[in-house]
Amino acid sequence: MSEPLIEIKDLRVEFNVREGIVKAVDGFNLTINRGETVGVIGESGCGKSVTARAILNMVPKPGKVTSGEILYYRRSKENPSDGQSRTTDVLDLTKLDPDGETIRQVRGGEIGMIFQEPMSSLTPVYSVGTLINEAVSLHRLSPVKRVGAQITETIQTHRRVTKAEGRQIAIEMLRKVGIPKPNERVDSYPHQLSGGQRQRVMIAIALSCEPVMLIADEPTTALDVSIEAQILDIMRELQESSDMAILFITHNLGVVANMAHEIVVMYMGKAVERAKVQDLFYQPQHPYTRSLLQSIPKLGQKKSGERLASIAGSVPDPFHLPPGCVFHPRCPAFMPGRCDTITPQWTQVGDDHWASCLLYEEAGK
Ligand SMILES: Nc1ncnc2c1ncn2[C@@H]1O[C@H](COP(=O)(O)OP(=O)(O)OP(=O)(O)O)[C@@H](O)[C@H]1O
Ligand SMILES: [Mg+2]
Repeated sequence: MSEPLIEIKDLRVEFNVREGIVKAVDGFNLTINRGETVGVIGESGCGKSVTARAILNMVPKPGKVTSGEILYYRRSKENPSDGQSRTTDVLDLTKLDPDGETIRQVRGGEIGMIFQEPMSSLTPVYSVGTLINEAVSLHRLSPVKRVGAQITETIQTHRRVTKAEGRQIAIEMLRKVGIPKPNERVDSYPHQLSGGQRQRVMIAIALSCEPVMLIADEPTTALDVSIEAQILDIMRELQESSDMAILFITHNLGVVANMAHEIVVMYMGKAVERAKVQDLFYQPQHPYTRSLLQSIPKLGQKKSGERLASIAGSVPDPFHLPPGCVFHPRCPAFMPGRCDTITPQWTQVGDDHWASCLLYEEAGK
């Protein structure tokens, strides 16, 4: 039985910058169920990372959530001693004080996160200053603390454990993410580890609090293929053993096809298509999704799991968005006089399959 964990409703996030207003997320809806993996794909700059950060109330400045809600169905911890059954509270994460106690319990504890390396982002509009701010504000490994201490601190922030217990959990997590000799490695400093090992430590930190959901934003982009496969296995194992949901953001269609139950395709801050993974790959309906899938080499021609290549035309200037459907200037199915004037609505195009495209609104009439 699907049970919603996170419901994003009509989310809008804007960046008010010198040149104007960027609608980074523009009326986005998504439900993530307990224990399920939702993959998010779309070209660079379409709002994937900003959406992920909005869930944790961490939209970078000058960004602002201007409307919508993000409901978190939060279960109380089981407490067998008082004999009461578990209750579920509904929290709107966008309305919480970004520095308050509740969001700090949620962020990194109940909802774990592995953020994209800012430098691997392809978003062309980031200034160097923004990139540096990002690096500082995110949970990065501190170069002056041993990795074990960093994991233990995270665990102690979110769970009632002693330092010694925290250290044991840290060693166990390092073992799980495939760090050799975790008993010794726990006392290493980050610079003593390879890049791939550091990324695995970050993943260990994110998973160490047994989150109900993991937000993974390009979690394995910096890793080589065999380590990537190990990490993905670990995520899947944890998901099965603890019913963890995953929001998986990636440019790698091979990875998302393997990991996700459902996929959402984003374009210019909006969801344009959502379907079960099989349906999306074998029966894509939105012309944008079709272009995205066609833009990667066919299976067998080249190794699968390529990053998304560029598709015809370019992403519009965010300060001058086209009227009607924002994809119309690049769309092979463009209908003049309609697509450039009417904003498409979310339309059911199959079982659990939705798209926002006038082709299907027409068909449904
Ligand atoms: N710090 C910022 N300042 C100004 N604008 C920003 C900032 N962060 C994001 N944006 C705007 O929000 C849009 C969405 O950015 P986001 O980082 O969510 O893209 P993305 O889909 O994650 O791209 P990528 O695949 O490259 O990671 C960007 O195109 C940009 O216009
Ligand atoms: Mg991103």
